[in-house]
Amino acid sequence: MNLDYRQADGVVEHRLLYRANVQTRVDVNLSDRVAWVTGGASGIGRATARLLAQAGAHVVSLDLNAGVVETGVDGRVLDVRDSDAVARVVEDLESQKLGADVLVNAAGITRDGVVWKLQDDDWKDVLDVNLAGAFRMTRACAPGMRRRGRGAIVNIASINGLRGRFGQSNYAASKGGLIAFTRAVATELARDGVRVNAVAPGFVETPMTAALPAEVRREAAERALMRRLGRPEEIASAILFLASPLADFITGQVLVVDGGLLA
Ligand code: NAI
Repeated sequence: MNLDYRQADGVVEHRLLYRANVQTRVDVNLSDRVAWVTGGASGIGRATARLLAQAGAHVVSLDLNAGVVETGVDGRVLDVRDSDAVARVVEDLESQKLGADVLVNAAGITRDGVVWKLQDDDWKDVLDVNLAGAFRMTRACAPGMRRRGRGAIVNIASINGLRGRFGQSNYAASKGGLIAFTRAVATELARDGVRVNAVAPGFVETPMTAALPAEVRREAAERALMRRLGRPEEIASAILFLASPLADFITGQVLVVDGGLLA
């Protein structure tokens, strides 16, 4: 299939040309892009850093834990709760011509508990990392992206930001907030060629969920139409799609990747 756009007398003509026996090859080539991944040392962030590097991007992992990085990934220590540290790392990377074309906000934590038992710190910590962390990174990256006239931000939300989930009022508030933040920032950055989207994963096998009781994990697998938990690589491929030129006309959206759990 060939898509042919023509402009004639001010009218754009879209023609689909089908040719027999023509194979279409689609390459996701990010070799001219720099991609930053917060939370890139573990789970979904780590799988994303690996996949972006495989697509040719220069990848920088920004995590509390700099020790763990995939081959071809540059690891930096960063606490996304620290505005000054975020500003410093952005300045440092920009000065090395490693400003972000792609920003994946994957750093996240849980502090589960029913609302009447949640401590102030359980609330504050989760909001500070999951929501304010993405805000700090976006605020710091936006000027460079606007200057370059291009960029793609992908925020890792959760299906639990879209539905009620027992014991996760703080986490749900952070992820629901992140979805609202995604849509609002998309309206602000679109004119500068910067797209902002979110991925809402279902239950994925990572260190974050490994600690949960077997019963909870089994129930999550049974409720998904695919009858299993997700793998970090399966979230990473949705992130890669949204970060790539394949998604050049997509902004302000939430892509649910949950094996059909919410379907
Ligand atoms: P994980 O626990 O395996 O990895 C999280 C990473 O974030 C760790 O490397 C950790 O060091 C880093 N991190 C935590 N606090 C940080 C901070 N203040 N500054 C910088 N880095 C920090 O978690 P997982 O499962 O890979 O989760 C990644 C994202 O996906 C999170 O935002 C999580 O909420 C979200 N998510 C995960 C799901 C799952 O089932 N695993 C489902 C839906 C969303």
